[in-house]
Amino acid sequence: MSGLGVNIDHVATIRQARRTVEPDPVWAAVEAELAGASCITAHLRVDRRHLQDRDIYLLRQTVRSRLNFEMSLNEEIVAIAEDIRPHQASLVPENREEVTTEGGLDVVGQFERVQEVTERLASHGIVVSAFIDPVEEQIQAAKRAGCRAIELHTGTYANACLPPDGSLPSDAEVHLQLDALAEGLDIGLDEGLIVHAGHGLTYTNVQPVARLGGFDEFNIGHSIIARSVFSGLRDAVIEMKTLIETAMEAD
Ligand code: PXP
Repeated sequence: MSGLGVNIDHVATIRQARRTVEPDPVWAAVEAELAGASCITAHLRVDRRHLQDRDIYLLRQTVRSRLNFEMSLNEEIVAIAEDIRPHQASLVPENREEVTTEGGLDVVGQFERVQEVTERLASHGIVVSAFIDPVEEQIQAAKRAGCRAIELHTGTYANACLPPDGSLPSDAEVHLQLDALAEGLDIGLDEGLIVHAGHGLTYTNVQPVARLGGFDEFNIGHSIIARSVFSGLRDAVIEMKTLIETAMEAD
């Protein structure tokens, strides 16, 4: 059964809107774990727009499942990862102007830096994952760079389900993107990698991806935190976990 990694960044986004102390993402991690999250994902961005250093250090001490530290290849952030030694580090691209992570990491294009960072993190016993598009060359490059896991970027699939320009979704495009994810999953598993998936997954689009079977974990943030405003975080996590599990059982 696939796990559910809950990304708690946007709890910190709400706190930072007022530069105050609430809501605390550390409390959110506890709630998510009590609801059955298999991992807590947290992204310390270079611009510190949501999580702060204090959060990451506290999460490292308090998370009881696994801490998945989402990070760019920036040297300051790499040094923090080496210091806190999370269970897993997920390498992502980061661009100052973006609203959220856009596209997967170009492992092929930045191969030497990815390999160097991966080796440094792995030497501390950290499982290194690369967040990449479901493209064969990127998957193979992640493997060659020493990654033990990959996270397939589901954002293009999510955009096909709910086009950002407000147009109606096309079934053909949705199926094309699902096929790309299925193919990426097979290639990753054939390479002996642990394969995760994430970005843009919601209560309405997660089940077709879960039905593909074989993903180790789904990393989901925005949709769960958005739902939690109305239902509370514990129920929001349980609801997402149930959708994933029922999709897989039905297969
Ligand atoms: N996986 C990665 C690598 C991400 O960068 C993000 C966004 O921080 C997520 C998953 C979660 O995406 P979302 O917030 O759209 O669920």
